[in-house]
Amino acid sequence: MKFFIDTANLDEIREANDLGILDGVTTNPSLMAKEGITGKENILKHYVDICNIVDGDVSAEVISTDFAGMIKEGEALADLHDNIVVKIPMIKDGIKAIKYFTDKGIKTNCTLVFSPGQALLAAKAGATYLSPFVGRLDDISSDGLSLIAEIRDIYDNYMFETQILAASVRHTMHVIDCAKIGADVMTGPLSSITGLLKHPLTDIGLEKFLADYAKGNS
Ligand code: E4P
Repeated sequence: MKFFIDTANLDEIREANDLGILDGVTTNPSLMAKEGITGKENILKHYVDICNIVDGDVSAEVISTDFAGMIKEGEALADLHDNIVVKIPMIKDGIKAIKYFTDKGIKTNCTLVFSPGQALLAAKAGATYLSPFVGRLDDISSDGLSLIAEIRDIYDNYMFETQILAASVRHTMHVIDCAKIGADVMTGPLSSITGLLKHPLTDIGLEKFLADYAKGNS
């Protein structure tokens, strides 16, 4: 399972990357705005800064919603760095744009996915990654994890190569449940990754080991 971090915060990206287990980064316009990154030039520079930290796929989202606009934006994003993955919304022109980029050998991440039918279309268009939003479905009393399981079944039935990138992961149990289902990738906040470290018995056990060592070696 690949681990991506879902943030545009460079310190958090560095912290996750320093663990040695980070495979990539996802961003979106809201995450960029949260970091105060505004204006086309600053946004493009920020993507390059992220790519210079992490040796893995970095999703950069287009703002256009029409085919021509998505192609122009996506090509400019892809030119920034080899690790850029063009993130495209699940809309009609988005599917056409994914097919276009697939044919050109440019990686894509189809975002804002909330149904198995949408997942099927994105795979048919050849998306590299598919981002079903687990947390946002849970937010409206729907079952985000069931969607991941349904898509896993569909993709396995036809051996689609599109990787299921469980997005809108909010906490450690989402990560673990997505891993059980067989999501190829998860993206979530730093806490959803570092939280996996925690167990009180680990802390108690280590404290005792160190205390016993100190007793015998003082
Ligand atoms: C996906 O790539 C999105 O950036 C993200 O995971 C959305 O998460 P949220 O629902 O917590 O905003």
